[in-house]
Amino acid sequence: MKIKVAIAGVGNCASALIQGVKYYKDAKEDSEGLGLMHADFGGYHVRDIEFVAAFDVNKLKIGRDLSEAIFARPNCCVKFANMPNLGVKVLPGPILDGVATHMKIPFKAYSEDKDPVDVGDVLEESRADMLLNFLPVGSFHGTRHYAKACLEAGCAFVNCIPEFVVSEQKWAKKFEDAGLSAAGDDIKSQVGATIIHRALVDLLVSRGVKIEKTYQLNVGGNTDFLNMTAENRLETKRISKTEAVKSLVPYDVQTWAGPSGHIPFLKDNKVCHMYIKGRKFGNTPVTIDMKLSVEDSPNSAGMVIDVIRATKLALDRGVGGPLTSISAYAFKHPPDQVPDHIARQRVEEFIQGKRER
Ligand SMILES: NC(=O)c1ccc[n+]([C@@H]2O[C@H](COP(=O)([O-])OP(=O)(O)OC[C@H]3O[C@@H](n4cnc5c(N)ncnc54)[C@H](O)[C@@H]3O)[C@@H](O)[C@H]2O)c1
Repeated sequence: MKIKVAIAGVGNCASALIQGVKYYKDAKEDSEGLGLMHADFGGYHVRDIEFVAAFDVNKLKIGRDLSEAIFARPNCCVKFANMPNLGVKVLPGPILDGVATHMKIPFKAYSEDKDPVDVGDVLEESRADMLLNFLPVGSFHGTRHYAKACLEAGCAFVNCIPEFVVSEQKWAKKFEDAGLSAAGDDIKSQVGATIIHRALVDLLVSRGVKIEKTYQLNVGGNTDFLNMTAENRLETKRISKTEAVKSLVPYDVQTWAGPSGHIPFLKDNKVCHMYIKGRKFGNTPVTIDMKLSVEDSPNSAGMVIDVIRATKLALDRGVGGPLTSISAYAFKHPPDQVPDHIARQRVEEFIQGKRER
């Protein structure tokens, strides 16, 4: 059976994901070392994912086949798959607060007098199983508009951005009452700053180190980083990234984590500098300084490719509301925050049907 996926925001994350579905279409179980966590996920293969609808506001993307739109400017995700025509045209989504003032030109937003499509109608007509939210950080109203459209159209919701919907009780209940699954919030990349920061902090705590302070600085050159230069769009991003680290330490620790600047020549390369200072045996100091350099967008796609299949499994099993296991494993701000090794175990139990959500 196919998994019908709709996308809001055809940016770099969407590009990596869509290319990834093509790239891994023949992946075998023993290719799991090649960048995939699961070739088969509860009976669903990567090639079962089919894109059925896409929304954006960029004039160069609207009206084009999804296979071409993912390479339109300002997208800069590396090209790692030759795409066939997908037969899905990008549609004009409602702009709302998706485009910050300083992003109007970079995002090539269509003029406000053009009418957007009705998102709910498109989701219904395309029979999408789920919608992935890839809007820019700070899209408070945009995210809720797309989430509401999912509820109206009977479609599951996967929230990859730091807007608190799946982790907020009011919205979680709406999806539960509608019998629609929801996963989120804010995707935690495959080998990104958050998972490494969490792993190091978890290690130090388990080894009896008293962590005193820690920070995580992130720079990059894509539009995600350009958008995040507006401090007023960043509040939830900082909360999401900081809580993901602090939640693993059983005492209060001075923590700073967040986007720290846009450096255009880095393009889709993200660089993270991390620092942790603590005290170990005999009250003697220990300091960790780490640098991570990674292609940003494929990093998110490596997780979303599993989230899509987990969400479909939940839909098949009639499980509505927040999917706590995959959300804890794959998102920074889930409804139920647990250490990553426990989340991973829970995901495997969910796949086997031993855990409802
Ligand atoms: N590793 C990662 O890349 C990562 C990790 C965690 C979270 N995220 C989040 O995922 C989101 C997507 O990241 P990205 O790198 O693809 O960003 P991007 O800037 O490349 O793409 C955003 C897209 O949304 C479109 N858009 C803006 N307003 C819209 C609207 N109202 N309706 C439809 N489309 C609209 C833009 O035109 C653009 O194509 C961001 O919020 C980012 O912070 C990414």
